[in-house]
Amino acid sequence: MSDPRPTDPTDPTGHLYLARALTDRAAAAVADLGRPVVGGSDAPPDRDALHAGLAGAAAAVVTVTERVDAAALDAAGPALRVVATVSVGFDHIDVAAAAERGVVVTNTPGVLDRATADHAFALVLAVCRRVAEGDRLVRSGQPWVWGPRMLVGLDVSAGATLGIVGYGRIGQAVARRARAFDMTVLAASPSRRPGTEQDGVTFGTLEQVLADSDVVSVHTPLTPTTRHLIDAAALATMRPGGYLVNTARGGVVDEDALVDALRSGRLRGAALDVFVGEPRVDPRLLEFDQVVLTPHTASAGEATRDAMGLLAVRNVADVLAGRAAPTPVPGSPAGG
Ligand code: DGY
Repeated sequence: MSDPRPTDPTDPTGHLYLARALTDRAAAAVADLGRPVVGGSDAPPDRDALHAGLAGAAAAVVTVTERVDAAALDAAGPALRVVATVSVGFDHIDVAAAAERGVVVTNTPGVLDRATADHAFALVLAVCRRVAEGDRLVRSGQPWVWGPRMLVGLDVSAGATLGIVGYGRIGQAVARRARAFDMTVLAASPSRRPGTEQDGVTFGTLEQVLADSDVVSVHTPLTPTTRHLIDAAALATMRPGGYLVNTARGGVVDEDALVDALRSGRLRGAALDVFVGEPRVDPRLLEFDQVVLTPHTASAGEATRDAMGLLAVRNVADVLAGRAAPTPVPGSPAGG
């Protein structure tokens, strides 16, 4: 499709579609754009509301809860110049369809690495040291008393090995935290040669990392190649009694296979911040005491959420002003 965007992007009457309410600082930046704003409610729009809000928009600020596919882009119409997602992941956006229509797609890389790594490491500690189980026990009001065998878990900082799957910015930030906890750190990444080492992290094949780690933490984006990367075979490769942590995307892990691995006792526990079909959580995952579940909050630090919103708005401002977007996603034109 040739560029069908005849509308002047600097026309200040084109509205900004805001899919969700942003933080106060980011909302102030939206107001500074001086454009009419449509949307911005706390709850995610359903498909019809999304399409209606996009219709005629010059720009859209969306989140992981909105599916921006070809139909949504068509509903927007020819005025749309930029879709800025308030997330680093962009698997909810059809980037190729946007590029065909001349629409720039941007994300928020770099500003959420630390918060996400903090949360991933919090999950490592929570599942290995049975923090959520202990919290549930105390809250239950059941009598309890200290005991040598009570809620005993994996000694994270006494020789445990963390395997990182995906060694981008977030994976590297997790590695730094694990090193500070005296863990042995392994990582698998298509961009690292197995057998090499850097900053105390040893790189291996996915199979080696799965087989040699007590805890595996997933930090790869969801793409056609990584969908179900952690499948039944991968889980069977993990150390018996190992733990899986996922703060990336639900679809990277085959949830059926994970449930089987937990039921069989092959895995001792899992900690998940992301789910296939979220916000629905597979009820089978609730069966296990040693499964820690958080509602996709890995990036939910105050300053981080401000930074994510501000970066999304900056991308919008630059594209609408005819400048290149600071952080276009791979495969997207930058505009300008
Ligand atoms: C992201 O940025 O992709 C997270 O999943 C949402 O914070």
